[in-house]
Amino acid sequence: MTTLNSDAFVFFGATGDLAYKKIFPALYAMVHRGGVAIPIIGMARAGWTLDKLKQRARDSIEHDGNFEPACFDKLAAQLRYVDGDYTDPATFTKLKQALGAAARPIHYLAIPPSMFGSVVQGLAKSGCAENARVIVEKPFGRDLASAQALDRTLHEVFTESSIFRIDHYLGKEAVQNLLYFRFANTFLEPIWNRHYIQDVQITMAEQFGVEGRGAFYEEVGAIRDVVQNHLLQVTALLAMDPPTGREPQAMQAEKLRIFRAMRPLDPQEVVRGQFTGYRHEKGVAKDSQIETFAALRLHIDTWRWSGVPFYIRTGKCLPISATEVRVTLKRPPLAIFEAGEDMPANYFRLRLSPEVVISEGALVKRNGEQMRGEPVELVARHRSATEKSPYERLLGDAIRGDTALFTQDDSVEAAWRVIDPVLATQTPVLDYAAGTWGPAAANQIVKSQDTWHDPAPEKTLPC
Ligand code: BG6
Repeated sequence: MTTLNSDAFVFFGATGDLAYKKIFPALYAMVHRGGVAIPIIGMARAGWTLDKLKQRARDSIEHDGNFEPACFDKLAAQLRYVDGDYTDPATFTKLKQALGAAARPIHYLAIPPSMFGSVVQGLAKSGCAENARVIVEKPFGRDLASAQALDRTLHEVFTESSIFRIDHYLGKEAVQNLLYFRFANTFLEPIWNRHYIQDVQITMAEQFGVEGRGAFYEEVGAIRDVVQNHLLQVTALLAMDPPTGREPQAMQAEKLRIFRAMRPLDPQEVVRGQFTGYRHEKGVAKDSQIETFAALRLHIDTWRWSGVPFYIRTGKCLPISATEVRVTLKRPPLAIFEAGEDMPANYFRLRLSPEVVISEGALVKRNGEQMRGEPVELVARHRSATEKSPYERLLGDAIRGDTALFTQDDSVEAAWRVIDPVLATQTPVLDYAAGTWGPAAANQIVKSQDTWHDPAPEKTLPC
């Protein structure tokens, strides 16, 4: 694989939702940092003009809230637009012309996977795929079989090292920090296993609903949308063994090993829910069985994790927007002071959003004559106004050819292997009211010695 920077950025789906919400703001931020002085070519089959695309870019960036006219003018000067049907060879001839002297383009497929085949073939036949890279969005496929079929489609034209599968969670500062915290410290490793850890919970809660993405959501549901990718990736980073070197392959090898050790989900250990009102959303079937909530118990069959449940929960229209990991430690073997069960067990709390917080829950003695305790949290917190958004980080990495934060074919397929059994069986979809923590049945997912720990608004601390 060449490690030269790509010299043109092409994005298919330029008039779509993802471009509006993520791609334009990321490109603008890159231009703002002086990082991307290459032609940027938007592709769509919407009958638009370049001016209309520029206006869309402007709206997107203004909406994102960081607009500086001079910087936008720079971005606008780099923008090109090619309109056409992705099944029509003429569209790719126009793209080839728009690429001009560019010899190493990167093509971002921000389009439904059903269109990947025609686009990839169009790129190949027109010569636009030569020395090119390709970025593809998640979810990568609908299940294991379709992910394998997609891989075959992409591999017909691109080598694995020039395919960049995006999972934007991997570009998040907080997720990077999780990895750093685990492997830059010595105190965790001796206790990071079945001997000391009782269970691990990962909650990705969103207070909002599907926000106009009903038609997209009907095709995926919560498990395909965020569990197969974002949340299993977080699980892998929490559970993997330390990599044996610094190169990306070492990290990827350990992640793959842990994905392969995840036991395929048991439908009995999955609860699916749907918030009341979802069926009235635009693009949603009146009798939709798509889940907007999922809670599940995952097992990882390694010596390190055997017997330690990983609880994963996500949902739309929950009481708060927050993503949090809670690693609960086992209690001391003997309760020397008050009854052990009255006090919380020690834990690590890793908040991934909206704040980045790492804290440790411990017990200290309360002032007074009695040996009675109280829970405290030792908190480390990061705040950075200059943090790159995940899309800025990942698109920049892809343009530079850095694969470290992208997912590989084998680990994506291994993740589908975990999820596949609950896609095939129709577990019931239970109603829940918006603003609650999902259907009551989700509580049964957590075994009796613990309960779900609901993320709460972060307490403000003195800086
Ligand atoms: C996306 C999902 O991948 O991740 C959305 O499609 C979800 O449904 C989003 O809301 C959450 O990511 P973030 O970074 O906005 O918390």
